[in-house]
Amino acid sequence: MFPSVEIAGMVCPNNVFLAPLAGYTNYPFRELCRGLGAGLTFTEMVSCKGLAYGSEETKKLLYCGSESPKAAQIFGNDPDIMRAACESEALAPFDLIDINMGCPMPKIVRNGEGNALMENLPLAEKVIAACVKSGKRISVKFRTGVTEEKKTAAEFARLCEGAGACMITVHGRTREKIYAGAPDYAEIAAAKNAVRIPVIANGGIWSKKDAEKAIARTGADGVMIARAALYRPQVFSEFTGIEPPPVRELFLKQLKETRELYGERFACVFMRKMAAFYIKGKPCAAEYKRRLFSAETTEEVEALARVVFSE
Ligand SMILES: Cc1cc2nc3c(=O)[nH]c(=O)nc-3n(C[C@H](O)[C@H](O)[C@H](O)COP(=O)(O)O)c2cc1C
Repeated sequence: MFPSVEIAGMVCPNNVFLAPLAGYTNYPFRELCRGLGAGLTFTEMVSCKGLAYGSEETKKLLYCGSESPKAAQIFGNDPDIMRAACESEALAPFDLIDINMGCPMPKIVRNGEGNALMENLPLAEKVIAACVKSGKRISVKFRTGVTEEKKTAAEFARLCEGAGACMITVHGRTREKIYAGAPDYAEIAAAKNAVRIPVIANGGIWSKKDAEKAIARTGADGVMIARAALYRPQVFSEFTGIEPPPVRELFLKQLKETRELYGERFACVFMRKMAAFYIKGKPCAAEYKRRLFSAETTEEVEALARVVFSE
């Protein structure tokens, strides 16, 4: 059920992907998930305008290494700016560029970006077609629709394919639902039946069993995991049989790499958040969380992690 998958000539070792997660899927975290078995990983969404203005902060989100295949996600709504981003040096190392048409955040939607593009079909089509002209592999991640009353996954899937996308990911919730409730597998199945390009199902996958159910119900070519990876990146090892190292080892490696790449302050704040995810459900989690959030340096975070993850 989790075989390798080919996307316009790009071969992923399996069909279980790590989703783009704003604020989280930086390079060390993507590598951690890849090491545990993720078949493809995505950067967080990166602003095309930010790239056009040469923003250093935006470029930092695109740090990567020589691993392959790898994917980046972009957002925006100006076809020319988006094409220029796809042709930029910053995105050159990536094998696949995904366009975000699912983001429900008001500040993004108000700008006509992210999920707002599901309400502006002519512009969505132009954006995809312009990005495809860059010569890069282009995919689109979108939702089952905007409101519960009108779900449009199949129609939108056709639009993406027609404009030249080589893969789509359907998050099985509408914008109205944000991240709540069960994913609508029937709607993902409708999208799958509407196109020939690979379709990836996303939403509510917390285990191998959930992934099997999602594939069985939708006929999708693969799945994409988001929040489960934050709490338990070892979820990827369930698909590959890779024996996951102890959490302590994973955490300390991630901390070291994050500090080396993004500096002490970022690493301290970021790894406090990651530790809080990883300890969820552990006895004394609340007490450790309190202590973690008062840690001021990565050394302190590391010392606490050695105790918390000592099993
Ligand atoms: C903290 C957070 C950040 C996210 N950032 C992005 C993003 O940058 N791009 C994107 O397409 N989706 C983003 N998403 C949505 C996820 O990729 C995914 O579609 C959603 O969480 C549903 O999957 P899940 O039920 O497995 O969590 C984000 C979700 C969360 C919780």
